[in-house]
Amino acid sequence: MEPVLPETLAERLFPEGDFAFGFGMQRPRQEWFRWNPADPEALEERRHWLSAEPHRHLASTDEAGPVLQEAMALFPGAPIATEADPQPGSAPSDPTGKRNAGDLRSLSLRWEPDLLLLRRDAAGPFRLVAGAVCFPSAWDLREKVGKTVDAIHAGVPTLNATLATRINAFLDRLPAGQTFERDNWGLAAHGQRNAHPDRALPRLTADATLETTWLRLEHQAFRALPQSGGLLFAIHLTVHPLVRVLQAPGARDRLARQLRSMPDPIAAYKGILPARDRLVRLLETDSPLPCTQPSISPRRSGIGPECV
Ligand code: HEM
Repeated sequence: MEPVLPETLAERLFPEGDFAFGFGMQRPRQEWFRWNPADPEALEERRHWLSAEPHRHLASTDEAGPVLQEAMALFPGAPIATEADPQPGSAPSDPTGKRNAGDLRSLSLRWEPDLLLLRRDAAGPFRLVAGAVCFPSAWDLREKVGKTVDAIHAGVPTLNATLATRINAFLDRLPAGQTFERDNWGLAAHGQRNAHPDRALPRLTADATLETTWLRLEHQAFRALPQSGGLLFAIHLTVHPLVRVLQAPGARDRLARQLRSMPDPIAAYKGILPARDRLVRLLETDSPLPCTQPSISPRRSGIGPECV
């Protein structure tokens, strides 16, 4: 029987050894810049959030125009902006800002990953100039716009101290015409894509079980936009019942060790701390686990869509 989670992915997500924030940059395993109507459910949900709550999920500044145009040119021959797309109230009042917000919304309605656009001037660091983020993992786009990557990461315990130099060197030297990928994982007490903090979704508690816990996998892509001095950062989220993920060989032991060794401030930041001891105990016992629920947006994750 094929493993539900290919071993390579279990290894990639939960490396052997103690927890550490990893850089984990790789060559792309998938084609990022194409339209993906194959997941209409995710696009439909994007449409919902971009229409119902554009102020939470869409942000663009006057500086975003050239970066946005260059990002849109990555997609082969597809018309993006339409007259009907700009939403009153979601854009700044000047015409440039309005056009940027309209174009960004149009792109985001047709392309599934969340996207962040950054820009820098000659010597300065990259700053976030626009974003369309419908499926955030407990962070708020509005708090990040205008900030540098270091400032955006400032709330993540130990991240800047351990990885900022490497992150900035990577972003500085990102070669034109190439895409790079990495993954981030988190745990949640719900299987919702949109975990915006304003939604106040259930959090992991000391009563958590493996069957009620979900894995959030962020498949991230980085692409230089050299003409505009910009950078595109895309985040494709998939969400999986933890029990499904644990069927992969080695995943159980590896996750137990990652959780056990995770420093408290990081476990608190990731919302895992109250549930950590219980989850580790459950992972260490050998009871067979039923897989009862399918994954959400399973494509690209390497995790099969069906329960086995
Ligand atoms: C280039 C390599 C990068 C690496 C290795 C990296 C790594 C990380 C890590 C480990 C986290 C913590 C996530 C977690 O464990 O739950 C994080 C959070 C985050 N990163 Fe990055 N990151 C990178 C680039 C970027 C870029 C270019 C942006 C663009 C704005 C960005 C935006 C964010 C945001 C918004 C968060 C959530 C912060 C919060 O919760 O307040 N990252 N990043």
